[in-house]
Amino acid sequence: MRGGHEVVLLMGPPGAGKGTQANLLAAERGLVQLSTGAMLRDHVKRGTELGARAKAIMDEGTLVPDDIIIGMVRAELDELEPIRVLLDGFPRTPVQAAALDELLDGYGAKVDAAIELVVDEAELVRRLVGRAEQEGRSDDNEETIRKRMQVYLEQTRPLLDYYGEQRKLVSVDGVGTAQEVFQRVVAALGEEAA
Ligand code: AP5
Ligand code: MG
Repeated sequence: MRGGHEVVLLMGPPGAGKGTQANLLAAERGLVQLSTGAMLRDHVKRGTELGARAKAIMDEGTLVPDDIIIGMVRAELDELEPIRVLLDGFPRTPVQAAALDELLDGYGAKVDAAIELVVDEAELVRRLVGRAEQEGRSDDNEETIRKRMQVYLEQTRPLLDYYGEQRKLVSVDGVGTAQEVFQRVVAALGEEAA
């Protein structure tokens, strides 16, 4: 934390519980929750030009181009003073991570912690297939789920080392009830701050 700023990242594979924990943690710490996936789904719903472009990419399970995502996040951060934010699903590539550092530097802020939710693949698939039945998110089908997992491993997982080297990575067991996981996250962040 610096100058009232606080920046926490929630990382982990599809279905790890990033959105679920982001909701709980943003409320607990008084942070604004920014979920790039939810922002993109909102564009799709509103039928914007960006939404039309993003939908095809999301349905395929690959990543929306970095410049689009970075522009979207920058516009949101520009509205905040101080920068008190919980980022869910961003950054997802080394280019996004570098852009985030540069953006935050411009506000005199920095990443305080990157929380990794650790969940085994069988449980991830179980959760996403369960959500497909309930909510019908168009990327929750078997083929796209597999692609999203692969993209996570290849493009996003290496970022854990980036934050690990900076001693910002907090890995938390993401299996259990949402409340159990939340208690672990809060405890791990407490240790980090101490
Ligand atoms: P995004 O929306 O970020 O999806 P994702 O990473 O695939 O992850 P999910 O939202 O599916 O899972 P989650 O970890 O949030 O878990 P949740 O809490 O929902 O991205 C979607 C797409 O947008 C990407 O594929 C890409 O195309 C694009 N995109 C987004 N950001 C981008 C970026 N930065 N760069 C480029 N492209 C980007 O939980 C999942 C399910 O499990 C729910 O049903 C939930 O109720 C349940 N659940 C949660 N916690 C538990 C628990 N403890 N026990 C049992 N069930 C649980
Ligand atoms: Mg999510």
